[in-house]
Amino acid sequence: MAMTLNNALDHLKPSGIRQFSRLAAETPGCISLTLGEPGETTPEEVRHEVSSSLEAGKTHYPPNNGQPRLREAISAYMAEEGLSYPEDQIIVTSGATEAVFTALMTMLNPGDEVIIPTPAFLLYDAIVRICRATPVALDCEPDDFQIDPEKLEAAASEHTKAIILNSPLNPTGTVLTKESLAAVAKVAREHDCYVISDNVYEKLIYTDAYEGFAQAYPELSDRIIVVNSFSKPYAMTGWRLGWLAAPSSLMGALSMVHMYAISSVVSFTQDAACVALASDVEPFRKSYERRRDITVSALSEMGLSCVRPEGAFYAFPSLRGFADADGKQIASERFCTRAIKEAGVALVPGTCFGSEGHVRLSYACTEETLREGLSRLGAFCASLERI
Ligand SMILES: Cc1ncc(COP(=O)(O)O)c(C=O)c1O
Repeated sequence: MAMTLNNALDHLKPSGIRQFSRLAAETPGCISLTLGEPGETTPEEVRHEVSSSLEAGKTHYPPNNGQPRLREAISAYMAEEGLSYPEDQIIVTSGATEAVFTALMTMLNPGDEVIIPTPAFLLYDAIVRICRATPVALDCEPDDFQIDPEKLEAAASEHTKAIILNSPLNPTGTVLTKESLAAVAKVAREHDCYVISDNVYEKLIYTDAYEGFAQAYPELSDRIIVVNSFSKPYAMTGWRLGWLAAPSSLMGALSMVHMYAISSVVSFTQDAACVALASDVEPFRKSYERRRDITVSALSEMGLSCVRPEGAFYAFPSLRGFADADGKQIASERFCTRAIKEAGVALVPGTCFGSEGHVRLSYACTEETLREGLSRLGAFCASLERI
């Protein structure tokens, strides 16, 4: 037997976000606006709780789906968000990453299709492929990153198994409108498919117009899986903690995939996660909103046009009007490579999210770093030829 690899991996590439953040780290003095990671450390009271759990000897295998106390706290948190999920419909996962993996691994068969409104976090495309199903990118760039009902209907087929939603969206910061959500609900009904609602940025919103898909369509709860994470709102990326909430009909299968994939999350972080859930994220949210405003006005001065982000901590400006040496519009990878080398500032090419012609800027860093990064980006843009 030849020592071949799993050929589901043939079309996977390592994360481009990591590639550009590594390039930034290897370039002395480079300011990195690449990673979707809060610059702050996890709040002190949350960190302290881990020491207490360790002191108390909470070092044994926890229940597979997470400690009841944490699942109850998540259930209460979701109730405040207008969602009714009792604790036995919740699984604590190793970040939203594992939640998406568990959800897709539970539902997909070879030949199934998953619609991914694009640009999108490339995790979705990769996991769908690992599950030997087919990602179907729905290009939302021409529609200001909203979901056009006709285009969605055209993308759906008898093989459509799921649609993945992310609002606010990584990489654009867009909040999906009522019309976008309605288009998804219609297709989910007509094609009898699942909807995975990735809500990892739901606490970082700068508009009154936000509504989650599960809140808007409770009658579709039999086909919705909600994914969430401690990473972004509580500055806990390194903890690898998240959750999924699902209809009871799916819990047996989801729990089995989760159990065989990771058994459970770490035992002594779970009390701390309860403390995080009870904490006030408003100061974080306000400070991101301020950084959003700084970013949007700086980008507009540079001539980088961008759909106004209404959540998360990203902007996704267009490169329209900026030329490379050959006089044509500069490609996003080239823009980012040159910005690192020539100006000491790092962004992520739109191609890493399935959308050429844009770059992603993360303003999750400190305000001081952001201001310096924007000033370097401005100087770099001024050095480029305009079309
Ligand atoms: C939209 C989206 N979903 C999921 C994740 C993964 O989050 P976690 O750290 O909880 O695995 C990220 C991380 O950047 C993200 O942007």
